[in-house]
Amino acid sequence: MQLQSSLSRDSESLSEGDEHMHLECISCGKKHDLATVMNTCSCDGLLEIKYDLSEIHFKLEERATVAPHVWKYGDLLPISGVPISLMEGGTPLYRCKRLEEQCGVKELYVKHEGMNPTGSFKDRGMTVGVSRAVELGIKTVACASTGNTSASMAIYAAKAGLAALVLLPSGHVALGKVAQALMHGAQVLAVKGNFDDALALIQKVCSEQGFYLLNSVNPYRLEGQKTIAFETVDQLNAYGKEKAPDRVILPVGNAGNISAIYKGYKEFYELGLIERIPMMTGIQASGSAPIVHAFERGTAEIEPVTEPETIATAIRIGNPINAPKALEAIRKSNGLAERVTDEEILQAQKDLARLEGIGVEPASAASVAGLRKLSAKGAIDGDETVVCVATGHLLKDPETVIRSSRPPIEVPADFKSLCEAILLRELH
Ligand code: F0G
Repeated sequence: MQLQSSLSRDSESLSEGDEHMHLECISCGKKHDLATVMNTCSCDGLLEIKYDLSEIHFKLEERATVAPHVWKYGDLLPISGVPISLMEGGTPLYRCKRLEEQCGVKELYVKHEGMNPTGSFKDRGMTVGVSRAVELGIKTVACASTGNTSASMAIYAAKAGLAALVLLPSGHVALGKVAQALMHGAQVLAVKGNFDDALALIQKVCSEQGFYLLNSVNPYRLEGQKTIAFETVDQLNAYGKEKAPDRVILPVGNAGNISAIYKGYKEFYELGLIERIPMMTGIQASGSAPIVHAFERGTAEIEPVTEPETIATAIRIGNPINAPKALEAIRKSNGLAERVTDEEILQAQKDLARLEGIGVEPASAASVAGLRKLSAKGAIDGDETVVCVATGHLLKDPETVIRSSRPPIEVPADFKSLCEAILLRELH
């Protein structure tokens, strides 16, 4: 690992088949060697990377002095060589005093993942996923995406010199994300179907062509995303809080991120670095909320939504592939799942922007909309310290902002007309 790391492991470097890590199926428990190139178990269950944590010696003092970024936690990541990195991670954790008052919680922080290189949390996963592709000698990476995954995969593929194939649900991807995938050189196909259709198709293409699938079913991607948890703990410590938050709230689409962040907290807990695991709280849009539905019914299986719909296109997903991991994260952490309407999402987006100066895309605002809803219902204790994860930047989806805002007032270029047009009552 060339980037500085504050973790140390007894053996200097990791290699294929490293005995300190393995892949494990969350359904049948079967263990697989890391050298095995597979995203799911032979039983079709989801895989997870497990570490022998007794081999990790986390030095608290050193941790405080290393600038935050994903590879600061390199010894808890499954890559042994030099990673393909664009200095992802190290995103700000803002205390939001105006919003916390409005939402009725003691302390509210927003982790602004929109400040990553492509403007979303996906970069944390892609730096690890693409580094793994390079380790494996793979030439082509591929994904289906509601937009952000494709933007992120495209930049890391560009940096690594790999070819990139992207499937998008036609007509339902925010403009900024398509622009990124195109500019960074991915081959972009718009499928006349939804994200779930595109994901099923790209899985087939990958197994026929030998392309490396970089959707969140890939366990390496989730390893990168778990660093949101590590970083949040370190940043809360910098605020003088020697603990994890009581609750973490985030939008849920394909359900990888909530599973990844839970895994991160679990590892810190098992390492004795935090005293509890936060209550993982997942928010979905009401038009595409199969996980909320399963949570409410107390079932292990979801009933897929065949025609998901929401203005928050990033989470317009009816059949989340990581649902089993996400439901476990929510249930085992005593968390919650809630649905919010498009109107509630847009209101929360405005409030984040206007009360706190935090510009996010609609899906990200679902976290704050969910917090407000759960707090109003009395489901969240007013004494809690809550972290909302803002997953993507405002500029990802300028069209929705323009549609939901008052347009600029056109004025002739003369002083009198200008004075007549200025809405003084709004400015004094
Ligand atoms: N927020 C944003 C901004 C997203 O782009 C996504 C997922 C999520 C939340 C949900 O995360 O899927 O891990 O539950 N976007 C994926 C994509 C699906 O293709 O960009 P999740």
